Amino acid sequence: MDKIPTISIVAAMDENRGIGYHGKIPWHIREDLLRFKNLTVGKTVIFGRKTYDSLLGYYQRSGRPMPTRRTIVVSRSSGSIASGSLTKDLYYVSSVEEAIRLAKKIEPVEVFISGGGEIFNQGIKYAEKLYLTVVEGKFQADAFFPDYSEFKNIISEENRSDQNFKYKFVELVK
Ligand SMILES: NC(=O)c1ccc[n+]([C@@H]2O[C@H](COP(=O)([O-])OP(=O)(O)OC[C@H]3O[C@@H](n4cnc5c(N)ncnc54)[C@H](OP(=O)(O)O)[C@@H]3O)[C@@H](O)[C@H]2O)c1
Repeated sequence: MDKIPTISIVAAMDENRGIGYHGKIPWHIREDLLRFKNLTVGKTVIFGRKTYDSLLGYYQRSGRPMPTRRTIVVSRSSGSIASGSLTKDLYYVSSVEEAIRLAKKIEPVEVFISGGGEIFNQGIKYAEKLYLTVVEGKFQADAFFPDYSEFKNIISEENRSDQNFKYKFVELVK
């Protein structure tokens, strides 16, 4: 592949950088899920095995198709990967470094490191750009986004709200 893709992170967090609790995202914001889908469709995403398993479970239960994208799953043990797949462009790798190397080979435009906490922590050093959703409030959480104070330049910021949550979409670079 000749073109070098941008390596980005897409994540939603609260004011404490909390991103998940008991394997789930602590809020449900339709516009945020839509933003994730619109950003990543047709591109390449990198998930930790736990996040991928829970997404797979969701799509299997709902009977809805997974959006078309190249998916790289990071796992230390292939035995722990849930059987079954709803996407044909699915790759398993055994480290985040390997995920980035593979992503650069298969993706010409943009790679999205997409969680969860372990993968954001290890992946942020590779990222050039962050697409964040910052939800107002402090939620119970056991998974967190890492410090991102290196990303000082705000490309765009948009305040939003729905019936239940106030949040903003922010795009940042270093
Ligand atoms: N708000 C958001 O934007 C967002 C996005 C995604 C997920 N989440 C939330 O984040 C939480 C899940 O995050 P998590 O940190 O528990 O799990 P995770 O990052 O999704 O997955 C962790 C798994 O990734 C694999 N892994 C991690 N580092 C590795 C390495 N260096 N080499 C090989 N494999 C490695 C291991 O898989 P094996 O165990 O198979 O070895 C590990 O158990 C959930 O609550 C989820 O809802 C939130």
